[in-house]
Amino acid sequence: MDLNLAGKTVIVTGGGSNIGRAICHRFAEEKANVVIAEWDESQGSKVAEEVKKLGAASLFVKTDVTNNNEVVEMVKKATARFGQVDILVNNVGWAVDQLFMEETREKWEKMIAIDFWGMINCTRAVLDRMVEQKKGAIVSIGSDAGRMGEYREAIYAGCKGGVIALTKALAREVGRFGIRLNVVCPGLTVPQEKEAVGEKSLWSGEMMDMFTPEAQAKAAKAYPLRKIGKADDVANAVVFMASDRAGHITGQTLSVSGGYTMM
Ligand SMILES: NC(=O)c1ccc[n+]([C@@H]2O[C@H](COP(=O)([O-])OP(=O)(O)OC[C@H]3O[C@@H](n4cnc5c(N)ncnc54)[C@H](O)[C@@H]3O)[C@@H](O)[C@H]2O)c1
Repeated sequence: MDLNLAGKTVIVTGGGSNIGRAICHRFAEEKANVVIAEWDESQGSKVAEEVKKLGAASLFVKTDVTNNNEVVEMVKKATARFGQVDILVNNVGWAVDQLFMEETREKWEKMIAIDFWGMINCTRAVLDRMVEQKKGAIVSIGSDAGRMGEYREAIYAGCKGGVIALTKALAREVGRFGIRLNVVCPGLTVPQEKEAVGEKSLWSGEMMDMFTPEAQAKAAKAYPLRKIGKADDVANAVVFMASDRAGHITGQTLSVSGGYTMM
């Protein structure tokens, strides 16, 4: 199936690591121009090179998505380089595995800034041009935690629930301009190789080592398909949702989680 993404320009936030990196690779395989908006300079530049090796144009823009001025500048740079922005993938996210009642306010605020404000800033920054173009697609990475609530992830689940609700409300507001917004919700998606993650990834350090093959097999028992997701599983759904092939789909939430949630 030709997704008709060649020559289109996509911004992928947090494109340096795990799921975001796989999304950049999939768009590159479709010959889209890939803009990586990422605050980890070394990992972002590395993925920009990987995109070029796959035969697509790329641009790395060091960006903290919680900082609105940096986001506005990043969108200006993307537009200056490629003429327009057709697709935004709000992929940045961060979670802490801790009980709400034991978590500090500092951590709550960091999660709300990254998981919700980041999505709001980036979405707002691309909308004016998309309205002018009378076309655009925004795919945000949610989480099954945001659909069902997840133990030890209260604030994160609340933010992802916010991403889902904001997506639906905005889809109603800007649908008349040909702009589509959808959410893709991964379940547990463990990086397959160390080089897939950067130092600022939530998988850096001991996190990845904890998910030994035995630990993954144990976790897989909670999933009807009895396997843990891969970053490519999520990326495949994202490129489809961003493409014209999903041209009549908006305001929807798609779980790519081996059946962990069914709603
Ligand atoms: N991996 C999973 O198990 C899983 C499950 C459900 C949902 N998700 C969601 O999928 C998305 C990607 O997850 P991942 O596992 O690839 O995470 P990751 O931590 O490996 O990658 C996130 C990337 O975003 C970057 N980043 C973080 N904050 C940033 C900021 N303020 N500005 C710019 N860049 C920033 C990091 O440097 C990193 O490269 C997130 O939204 C996450 O909540 C992941």
